[in-house]
Amino acid sequence: MGTLIKNGDIITATERMRADVYVEDGIVQAIASSLDAKPGDRVIDASGCYVFPGGIDVHTHLDMPFMGTVSTDDFETGTRAAAIGGTTGVIDFVMPERGQPLLDALEVWHAKARGKAVSDYAFHMAVTHYSDAVGRELPQVVEAGITSFKTFMAYKGSIGIDDAGLFQVMRKTRDLGALVTVHAENAEVVDGLVREMVAEGKLHPRYHALSRPALAEAEATHRAIALAEINARSLYIVHLTCDEALAHVKHAHCRGQHVMAETCPQYLLLDDSRYEGPDFEGAKYVMSPPLRKPKDNEALWQAIAAGYIQTVATDHCPFDFQGAKQMGRDNFAKIPNGAPGIEDRLALLYTYGVVPGRISLNRFVEVFATNPAKIFGLFPRKGTVAVGADADLVVFDPTIKGRISASTHHQRVDYNPFEGFETIGAPTHVLINGQLAVEGGKYVGEPGTGRYLPRKPSTTVRNTGHLEGVATGF
Ligand code: URP
Ligand code: ZN
Ligand code: ZN
Repeated sequence: MGTLIKNGDIITATERMRADVYVEDGIVQAIASSLDAKPGDRVIDASGCYVFPGGIDVHTHLDMPFMGTVSTDDFETGTRAAAIGGTTGVIDFVMPERGQPLLDALEVWHAKARGKAVSDYAFHMAVTHYSDAVGRELPQVVEAGITSFKTFMAYKGSIGIDDAGLFQVMRKTRDLGALVTVHAENAEVVDGLVREMVAEGKLHPRYHALSRPALAEAEATHRAIALAEINARSLYIVHLTCDEALAHVKHAHCRGQHVMAETCPQYLLLDDSRYEGPDFEGAKYVMSPPLRKPKDNEALWQAIAAGYIQTVATDHCPFDFQGAKQMGRDNFAKIPNGAPGIEDRLALLYTYGVVPGRISLNRFVEVFATNPAKIFGLFPRKGTVAVGADADLVVFDPTIKGRISASTHHQRVDYNPFEGFETIGAPTHVLINGQLAVEGGKYVGEPGTGRYLPRKPSTTVRNTGHLEGVATGF
């Protein structure tokens, strides 16, 4: 049985066209101004609606052990909530334990996702320590279909890597056509400030933000960019939060260096006043890097529009407020870092980005789906609406009004950092690989239908270290 989506406005990163889309065998088979259904086909009337490519969230932490607990969404609940919100693919992080062979950790992550994910998924490989043995494994990781490596410049003493390790990861993966991604915060500064504040009895959640200043992020961002330039290679900076760090990305672009940056809805829409909430409420926003100032929110929106930031992901890493977050009630340093968001990315970007005119519809599609697919080697199979692409599609009704709440969301976590945010527009139908997964806001698909996506080196990784254009995005 095929599916015909009729009369929608298809939006890609570059086009808008009123056309019908015919889907069969999991693939987009035809796009034309008027198509007819075959007997037995499902017909979706998309009059007045947009048809977007399904979103790709390239920064999620599902079922991840971290800071003495485990993130609460697994691959089933997380990808299901994502689908309801219009995200039909995720790239999650394999997190090897210290000393664990990377390929062993990969098997652990395959076991977490296999038979559970409802959408297709891929993995980044975190390199949390470096040794010659790790160096020898890097090509095998790429052969296993993982063409992006994650390094944490923060988290000293746990998952963080030092400069020597980061330098080796950049060097050893350069000729593999793989991308290095960094969480950029100066580990020594953060560690020093955390120790100082704890020793002084400054234990409230506000000290999480005060111990991780914007300049510590900016310094690490600059260092990562310099290390990438020394190695003449591309760089991808995850969850960039502030104007100070952005300045280094802009400078790199102006010099023609191939540096890409991601931000997340929380850094666009929330600020550090959240840490002052009563009754330990600030713990809900303890994530790293922390929330910044309203001026940073605005700078990030402008950077998306101008092309300095290429993707908006979520860094979905949920912990219950009345659960794991309480481990830090008496000490901010023990609050597990992370917050949910996998379900709300489309609604927030559309409502607070497209509707007020901060970004165009095309730019929204680009940062939500197309650039994530291009940068991480999934395009054109994913990330666009095109004949021959996987039929991961969102029919989006821009007239539906809503309000985000933990009482109605589908993420497996007891709070929502965007509680009370009004939303404009919502997916009415979501197709994943041609199968109807969401109808009228409800999940109607099968569990475990998601497939692992082994990736080939990305065509946008240019390990020459330089951009062809300047500050144009892509
Ligand atoms: O606070 C966060 N972001 N937790 C998840 C791990 C990371 O740094 O991305
Ligand atoms: Zn991070
Ligand atoms: Zn993260």
